Amino acid sequence: MPKWLKDAVFYEIYPQSFYDTNGDGIGDFNGIIEKLDYIRGLGCNALWINPCFDSPFKDAGYDVRDYKKVAPRYGTNEDLVRLFDEAHKRQMHVLLDLVPGHTSEEHEWFRMSQKAEKNEYSNRYPWTNFCFEPAKGFPYVGGESERSGVYVLNFFKCQPALNYGFYRIDQPWQLPVDHPDCIATREAMKDVMRFWLDLGCDGYRVDMAASLVKNDDEKKSGTCAIWRNVREMLDREYPEAAIVAEWSEPQQSLKAGFHMDFFLNGGGNGYSTLMRDYENHPDGADHSYFKKDAGGDINAFLKDYLPRYLDTKEDGYFCLLTCNHDTRRPRLGLDIPELKLAYAFLFTMPGAPFLYYGDEIGMRYLDLPTKEGGYFRTGSRTPMQWNEGKNLGFSEGSADDLYLPVDPAPDAPTVSAQENDPDSLLSTVKALLALRHREEDLQADADFAQIQTKAGQPFVYHRGSLVLAINPSGSEQTCSLPAPGEVIFSIGSAKADKNSLTLGAQSFAVIR
Ligand code: NOJ
Repeated sequence: MPKWLKDAVFYEIYPQSFYDTNGDGIGDFNGIIEKLDYIRGLGCNALWINPCFDSPFKDAGYDVRDYKKVAPRYGTNEDLVRLFDEAHKRQMHVLLDLVPGHTSEEHEWFRMSQKAEKNEYSNRYPWTNFCFEPAKGFPYVGGESERSGVYVLNFFKCQPALNYGFYRIDQPWQLPVDHPDCIATREAMKDVMRFWLDLGCDGYRVDMAASLVKNDDEKKSGTCAIWRNVREMLDREYPEAAIVAEWSEPQQSLKAGFHMDFFLNGGGNGYSTLMRDYENHPDGADHSYFKKDAGGDINAFLKDYLPRYLDTKEDGYFCLLTCNHDTRRPRLGLDIPELKLAYAFLFTMPGAPFLYYGDEIGMRYLDLPTKEGGYFRTGSRTPMQWNEGKNLGFSEGSADDLYLPVDPAPDAPTVSAQENDPDSLLSTVKALLALRHREEDLQADADFAQIQTKAGQPFVYHRGSLVLAINPSGSEQTCSLPAPGEVIFSIGSAKADKNSLTLGAQSFAVIR
């Protein structure tokens, strides 16, 4: 396990929308470099940058045309290397986004694979043997190439699946996972990983990490074997590099060699009940645990989180995030006092927390038409709001040229309006992250255990030797403490008296 992960706090950057330094209306690497001190000042010491590689951008860059060349709209490979160097100067680490499950249909490997004549790349993607032979059980495309056959898709139509083989073979066109051409795909992806690691990148967030081997068994044995092989390579050649899976099944991903996995929003699962919870309610409204009037029950989260955490805490980190580029921003359902409590919880839990750019100021989810395959996700991908100036400080370009419009609300939150206000969300985020860095017991490894989880009462939990308590409700609450202690941090009012803790409405406390 790379040592730096123990106290890592990640900041996710959607590069399109972070900071534009050349006035073309789209963010760039120089913009990220200029804002590194801001990010460090926030308390984030690591970055995850969404795909920044050459791409036709039909899925915001998750359709990679060239893994080894950055998209010119963000700068050059040299600019990205400078970003690595500048981050390292500030003791920060940078994860790039690896998309191993598919490429763009414009990738050179795919173009070669489409040719009628057999070549080195013919099997880089799974194809059936005849133009009218469907790829049964998979989304597929036919009729687009000189090769007679149809190919399998991994996501959108623009994203043909790479071929890592089939765990269970039920059609003659499917290759086994140990076929040399499937192994060649895995080796090609390791080659891509080495390319950026050699240039100074510190690891990868791995897109759809569970998707590699098709017809896999329930345990994902085929796909897990590939990641175990990748991890061996990393341990041998890049022991300080980290990989985080987009998987959300730590019992699979962390045991397969990932250092981290994310607890992702999904159909009313534990994480979603914590942050949103509209899925479980017929009114479609937000019932997040942190909502003042929701009568929150933390058990909905714990029942899902705890078994996964307990089973995997020796293997790696099951990480919590404020939101990401695929979900609606938490500000959609939570107001500022509620967001403070949500972040207090997320930033004091085990694993490495991930903060999505703009969530630190409570940026809103905007209702916008789709951009680059974003659909509903587009509303969470708007330009960062730096100040009250032109385009809210995102770009000197004309408003019409912006990648996406900035929040038009007169009270659109900005960094400059919040940075000198001790009561702002931004200041609360900074205070929480500073506390986390100060207290080893709040970092990735220290144990987590619940103390009191009864619905309608404060949620009380341990991190190492510290006791933490959250009262999301609108009324004062009292709870008992396992031992007398002193409040070392609070949001809202908190008073400890011997074995009892009194928490004001919507408050949070850390007790030593
Ligand atoms: C997950 C990514 O987070 C998402 O943005 C993308 O559209 C799909 N994978 C496909 O790569």
